[in-house]
Amino acid sequence: MPTCLWACNGVLAHVWLVRASRYGEILKTHILGCPCVMLASPEAARFVLVTQAHLFKPTYPRSKERMIGPSALFFHQGDYHLRLRKLVQGPLGPDALRALVPDVEAAVCSTLASWDGNVASTFHAMKRLSFDVGIVTIFGGRLDERRKAELRQNYSIVEKGYNSFPNGFPGTLYYKAIQARRRLHGVLSDIMRERRARGEPGSDLLGCLMQSRAGDDGALLTDGQIADNVIGVLFAAQDTTASVLTWIVKYLHDHPKLLEAVRTEQAAIRTANDGGRLPLTWAQTRSMALTHRVILESLRMASIISFTFREAVADVEYKGFLIPKGWKVMPLFRNIHHNPDYFQDPQKFDPSRFKVSPRPNTFMPFGNGVHACPGNELAKLEMLVLIHHLVTGYRCGAPPHRFAIYSLLVLVDQSSRWAPAAATPLDPSSQLPDSAYTYSYCYMLHAPVRIDRAINLWGHSLLRWHNT
Ligand code: HEM
Ligand SMILES: *[C@@H]1O[C@H](CO)[C@@H](O)[C@H](O)[C@H]1NC(C)=O
Repeated sequence: MPTCLWACNGVLAHVWLVRASRYGEILKTHILGCPCVMLASPEAARFVLVTQAHLFKPTYPRSKERMIGPSALFFHQGDYHLRLRKLVQGPLGPDALRALVPDVEAAVCSTLASWDGNVASTFHAMKRLSFDVGIVTIFGGRLDERRKAELRQNYSIVEKGYNSFPNGFPGTLYYKAIQARRRLHGVLSDIMRERRARGEPGSDLLGCLMQSRAGDDGALLTDGQIADNVIGVLFAAQDTTASVLTWIVKYLHDHPKLLEAVRTEQAAIRTANDGGRLPLTWAQTRSMALTHRVILESLRMASIISFTFREAVADVEYKGFLIPKGWKVMPLFRNIHHNPDYFQDPQKFDPSRFKVSPRPNTFMPFGNGVHACPGNELAKLEMLVLIHHLVTGYRCGAPPHRFAIYSLLVLVDQSSRWAPAAATPLDPSSQLPDSAYTYSYCYMLHAPVRIDRAINLWGHSLLRWHNT
């Protein structure tokens, strides 16, 4: 099954998928001693993320929270989350995106140009693209190059520390990341100070955050709250979009007939744009039906956010099972996306399956409910524009194909199938496992895992696209 390559998650989720089909849709397990409930059905995921969302709060390891910034919206629940979310949604909504098309196109063209003749890793090129698009979204393209470079450099240090062991000794990646985090905050404060001095906060994401009275009791947000959210959005936007873009490039390469069909669709648009001399329009990006299906199918196949975590804030009963307060809950998106009950022949890359809408709550590449991704339309816009320029301007060569399966952290722990609440006292310490296996994730472990390694390994050899 060579398609299941998304770092450890993919491999591990596959293990779980085998189990899920044998044992059902709810599994109780321990990840490093932390009691967890895994949910692999659309109904259960909806219960946790949508209908009973107030009973399940987001949960991240403290060290990660500290690295991104504790006031970033995705760590929160309730009122503060809602206020921040409204703010962030504006600059990511359709009107703002329509205006952003030229910036996205410029970023795409510059990415592809710098790719030319380079054997750079696809993933790294894509990360640069998603970072640049994140920056225009936040700062409205008004940021000077020096500032941008400062943000980029410092952010990349923060990122390296994010997946490293949280050890505060000088010299460690984590320590360096915390230092870089402070410098980022400094750069952002300077930018805000300048805007205030000029008396024009701006209508971009930063401007929205600066002007709103979304703080407690209708106060302005503090600089700290704003910085946390700016860094949070960059964080949420960069690796996710870059990973999917990398997968798309790979899938197109793997399916030559499909690539030809996509090229035909895009070539017509290029012709209409006077051979690419006119800029792409928003309306054109809305008309790329086949390309859009390729994107949806790539999101399903790759399922790069394989699952998410929540924590029960009270004892919750679901279908006769008790989820005790304090337990972690994991809706498993990837398993749902790869379940043949919802997606026939799930291992087949087949964009035509999206000619019919998936059943409700079975397709959640961007999550579901109150925390669902507000950046999903921006991400799709980036993908559409990148594919347009890639397939109309480049041909893929015959690269040596290498795959790397990045499997690590398959820990053996104890788990058991759920029993109805009535039958089993669900005290975390009293569960008697019936099997030995679990799956763990760098999130829980704080382990020095470089998720992007797998992508990089084949990203290097994956693609030699030649300019046509
Ligand atoms: C293909 C690219 C992307 C994927 C697959 C993706 C996926 C997701 C998912 C699954 C969630 C929900 C997580 C959860 O419920 O625990 C999420 C949340 C979020 N995403 Fe994305 N995302 C992508 C791109 C972006 C972009 C481009 C932005 C911003 C420009 C963004 C900003 C956010 C934010 C701010 C949240 C937190 C929302 C909240 O907690 O209310 N994402 N994303
Ligand atoms: C980080 O930001 C500071 C400004 O606070 C800047 O002087 C520095 O060059 C940036 N880059 C790195 C790698 O520290």
